[in-house]
Amino acid sequence: MMNIKTLNEFILDKQHEFPYASGDLTRLLNDIGIASKIINREVRKAGLVNILGAAGTENIQGEDQQKLDVYADNQFINAFKYGGQVCAIASEENDDFLAFDNEPSKHGKYVVTFDPLDGSSNIDVNVSIGTIFSIYRRVSTDGPAQLEDFLQKGSEQIAAGYVVYGPSTMLVYTTGKGVNGFTLDPSIGVYCLSHPNMKMPDDGRLYSFNEGNYNTYSKGLQKYCDWVKEEDKSTGRPYSCRYIASMVADIHRNLIKGGVFCYPATAGSPNGKLRLLYECNPMAFIVEQAGGVATTGNQRIMDIQPTSLHQRVPVIMGSKNMVNKVLEFTQQYG
Ligand code: AHG
Ligand code: MN
Ligand code: MN
Repeated sequence: MMNIKTLNEFILDKQHEFPYASGDLTRLLNDIGIASKIINREVRKAGLVNILGAAGTENIQGEDQQKLDVYADNQFINAFKYGGQVCAIASEENDDFLAFDNEPSKHGKYVVTFDPLDGSSNIDVNVSIGTIFSIYRRVSTDGPAQLEDFLQKGSEQIAAGYVVYGPSTMLVYTTGKGVNGFTLDPSIGVYCLSHPNMKMPDDGRLYSFNEGNYNTYSKGLQKYCDWVKEEDKSTGRPYSCRYIASMVADIHRNLIKGGVFCYPATAGSPNGKLRLLYECNPMAFIVEQAGGVATTGNQRIMDIQPTSLHQRVPVIMGSKNMVNKVLEFTQQYG
């Protein structure tokens, strides 16, 4: 055999790191890997939808064609519903959480929150998109899952990860013991460990802001955006702006190269745009585990007590020294 470590082998190898592990998390992570491969298969056909049948129309078998984000949502829901480990899910695509009433899943000890397709405006233009997930232990003790099972702080996450559908497909996850990245080898349909123990550089020269919103930023953020453009050899400025508008892809790049990603409060979105449960907490867990920082500007993202499922929060996350530099500006100028 070649020197390949597959995702399944890796997850199994790591099971012993959890005392009293019953194998449930192992099975759950494997199920997520499989669901992501099914989503990947559809993503890879995205541009063909127009010639094979558009979303909202019937396909040749008389089945309704689904939009990719609805398709991804259903794939994940089915993986969890029939997997047996998860008693309830909450997804960006559904107004309310969904508690499973089937055996054996209704006894599952985990709940999962997810963004089935992140960066969906990029689907039609063939630019990287992603999937984000977050796993918590259920806290309610009997009967169907409750809202309280989902309104847990990010610091309670058992595991979190994302899949990025880029030039290649990668799955990156953490269980709180570092971050590991796997690249899908499409010829054999297997995720292979390609990025062991990922570490975010403390410094970087990339900033990922939607600067079109500059006029509605706080004074501090405006000053930071001005500062990055100044010429200064010692700090390597001007920095380069990199903004894909797929949070997963933006943070994945910054994780590897070093950078800061920000989606602040704006006039149109006073709490920012990104959702705490589906986007900010899971990405914050990964970023922190890789040595980076994730904050609202006032508070660590993972310390926020959620109050509703679809809650939005402002977010600044990325390389430690870069986030701290942004905070210097927001603290000085507000
Ligand atoms: P989604 O496609 O799940 O709604 O998320 C898109 C999000 C996020 O991925 C990205 O960082 C942000 O929206 C981009 O927003 P702007 O277009 O306002 O910059
Ligand atoms: Mn999203
Ligand atoms: Mn989405």
